[in-house]
Amino acid sequence: MRRFILIGAAAALVLVAAPLAAQPVVQLPEGEGRDVVATACSQCHALTAITQLRQGEQAWRYQVYDMVLRGAQIAPSEIDGTVKYLAASFGPGVPFPGPPAAPVTLPDGAGKELVEGGCALCHGLDRVVAAKRSKGEWNGIVKRMVFFGAPLAPDQATTIAAYLDSKFGAD
Ligand code: HEC
Ligand code: HEC
Repeated sequence: MRRFILIGAAAALVLVAAPLAAQPVVQLPEGEGRDVVATACSQCHALTAITQLRQGEQAWRYQVYDMVLRGAQIAPSEIDGTVKYLAASFGPGVPFPGPPAAPVTLPDGAGKELVEGGCALCHGLDRVVAAKRSKGEWNGIVKRMVFFGAPLAPDQATTIAAYLDSKFGAD
């Protein structure tokens, strides 16, 4: 019951606020868990924090736990369904609304195809080549991306880190 009241309150707020601030209307895809996300995840920030992100189930689970620690009102019994909904709706490979990311041509080298296949599932390759980084930073980034859900075997991750260090190294 409380949830229906909250949705009503949120809708009223949007109606009042929209003409002033031109709030983007965020369409959440259908699915079990959608109502929980629409209500519980819109109390502190816009839903675009979620719809503009792509990550796998493990990373979404950490994100939801983090949000619960910050005060998100989700019952323990709702967490699994919320995580599954988020991973299915905003997981690796799910396209973003709007124009596609700027195309990036990578230099030839062992690992190029792996980067093209494994590093553009959650953001554009422009993000990958945005800065030169040290070998240690590349290793750390690739590890973090695997945690987020990049579907890479350990040897593929090693090849990618070496490729990025040789082409986009900081030294
Ligand atoms: C009680 C307030 C609160 C609620 C409710 C809340 N969040 Fe957050 N959320 C935050 C804060 C604060 C940050 C910024 C954290 C940081 O900068 O480290 C954040 C950041 C995020 C980010 C990161 C955005 C980015 O670009 O890095 C995501 C994703 C996110 N929240 C998802 C959710 C989801 C999913 C829910 C519902 C389960 C939720 N939030 C509910 C407070 C909240
Ligand atoms: C499963 C989703 C996913 C995949 C696949 C993915 N990334 Fe990311 N990437 C993210 C997210 C989420 C962020 C933003 C959060 C962060 O930086 O911690 C990000 C941010 C980045 C950044 C900016 C980080 C910074 O500190 O400036 C770089 C560079 C990057 N990714 C490189 C890569 C590379 C290289 C690959 C392939 C090995 C890859 N990404 C694959 C999810 C992914």
